[in-house]
Amino acid sequence: MTESAARGHNSDLPLRPLSYALGAEVTRIDLTDDLDDSVIEAIKDAWNEHHILLFRGQKLTPAAHIAFSRRFGDLDRHDSTPHYRMKEFPELLQITNRLIDGKPSETRNTGRNWHSDYSYTDHPAAASMLFCTEKPPVGGDTMFCNMVRAYETLSDKMKHIVDDLDAVYDIGLTAGINERDPQKTADVRRLNPPIAHPAVRVHPRSGRKALYVSERTSHFHGMTPAESKPLIDYLCAHATSPENVYRHVWEVNDLIAWDNRTTMHLALADFDQTAPRHMLRTTLLGEKSGFVV
Ligand SMILES: [Fe+2]
Repeated sequence: MTESAARGHNSDLPLRPLSYALGAEVTRIDLTDDLDDSVIEAIKDAWNEHHILLFRGQKLTPAAHIAFSRRFGDLDRHDSTPHYRMKEFPELLQITNRLIDGKPSETRNTGRNWHSDYSYTDHPAAASMLFCTEKPPVGGDTMFCNMVRAYETLSDKMKHIVDDLDAVYDIGLTAGINERDPQKTADVRRLNPPIAHPAVRVHPRSGRKALYVSERTSHFHGMTPAESKPLIDYLCAHATSPENVYRHVWEVNDLIAWDNRTTMHLALADFDQTAPRHMLRTTLLGEKSGFVV
């Protein structure tokens, strides 16, 4: 099914589209309710169709955030990045500019280049659910792009080329990683050696193909970095063209669920860094994937 043909699905959920390219807000729902399985299935269908879902005005405790996320699959305990999870709730990763143990958090500049979560691991995240508890007066926006649409709008010849490629991911290309504590960075590098994943992934639920190349792709397996770079640059520019992007302006108590297999995202530094910004993320486990190169 093509992306456009997938539109227009009927769902009982009240939905408000967020942009032409991707995204929908689910309105009139309280995620702390004991939601019926049929509601969860409807959310899965809507998620499948729109790739990211927004739930506004949610009053989620860490436990409620985790409980809702678990309805969609097993959660990662963030062993790949152990320094950044909550001590009491390892299922929650903190993305914050608050002080932690008296020092500025190393996650304050996380996500500053286009990526899909945990692509540098052997279990790329299936999905992520990010909850905003504190935000600056303006800015701190997050942008999302649709990687199904990115794939489908390539020429047939280019589709054949990328279908055959494996993209190598290197955690060293994570934005800002060299500003972090050298010991922690060494730990994270040791836990996550460069790994190759298919450059095109087939979504297990929808069967649709999505491009899986990002600004954290170092090269294509079997090709040199110099040979790979023009194609990586082209594919990233194509995927993140403005008409393929939704830019989210956060409000406190927003939860956004995104599918990492069909989207990329970018956390913008467009805000006063002295103003607090605090986000909590659950991560849905994906299948084992890739090979260490
Ligand atoms: Fe991310």
